[in-house]
Amino acid sequence: MARPYVILNAAMTLDGKIATSSGDSKISSEADLTRLHRLRSRVDAVMVGAGTILADNPSLTVRRVKGKNPIRVVVDGMARIPTDARVLDQSAKTIVAVLKAADEKKVEGLRRAGAEVLLFDGEQINLRSLLEELHRRGIRKLLLEGGSTLNWNMIAAGLVDEIQVTVAPRIVGGAAAKTLVGGAGFPTVKEGVKLRLSKITKVGSDVLLIYRVTGAKRD
Ligand SMILES: NC(=O)c1ccc[n+]([C@@H]2O[C@H](COP(=O)([O-])OP(=O)(O)OC[C@H]3O[C@@H](n4cnc5c(N)ncnc54)[C@H](OP(=O)(O)O)[C@@H]3O)[C@@H](O)[C@H]2O)c1
Repeated sequence: MARPYVILNAAMTLDGKIATSSGDSKISSEADLTRLHRLRSRVDAVMVGAGTILADNPSLTVRRVKGKNPIRVVVDGMARIPTDARVLDQSAKTIVAVLKAADEKKVEGLRRAGAEVLLFDGEQINLRSLLEELHRRGIRKLLLEGGSTLNWNMIAAGLVDEIQVTVAPRIVGGAAAKTLVGGAGFPTVKEGVKLRLSKITKVGSDVLLIYRVTGAKRD
């Protein structure tokens, strides 16, 4: 079944961190934030994991350029995000993907806050099924904005088509600092996801790298 085209976007330090060990994730320059908002205005939906909502409380709207707000999709298996999270404000539609095992009161709270809740069986949300459901709702282009765990889950499932990563001229170190892609990881380099570099651009003092994922499974 068809799914949307998925672009993973992130800002990372030269050492591959998307936040410091204490959780500071303000890595993007002003120029890169404007690029990100332009990218948001050109997709049908933006998707993040619950960890990103809890850490950064982003609104995921378009503010720095003129353009429409995308639909916001939060992958939140246990319905952990608070009902006053900015992503649930009225500036755009929000879909929260939740497991049937989540606390019913929390799920009801999300609905009352205005979110559309999609319920999934099992211990993990089947991300391919979620993307197929989003496609049925007319979402053709999806921007994946992290974090580390959801990036891994999406990449490992072969659901990412393109990667746009801004490399900031900083090194923050920290073994516990989140990297671009976390999760269990592949045991060998050979098993790693293969990419083809399609563009390199200088954005202010950052470098924007655009890759195509070779062998992503669209259908
Ligand atoms: N620099 C950047 O561009 C950038 C962008 C975004 C985020 N970040 C940073 O990344 C960090 C957050 O990353 P993170 O890895 O902690 O969190 P995350 O990837 O945003 O969210 C992970 C959580 O999402 C839920 N989830 C993901 N896949 C699921 C599935 N298939 N089924 C059910 N639930 C699923 C799980 O919630 P449950 O555990 O509740 O089940 C999981 O713990 C923050 O520090 C943030 O600042 C940086």
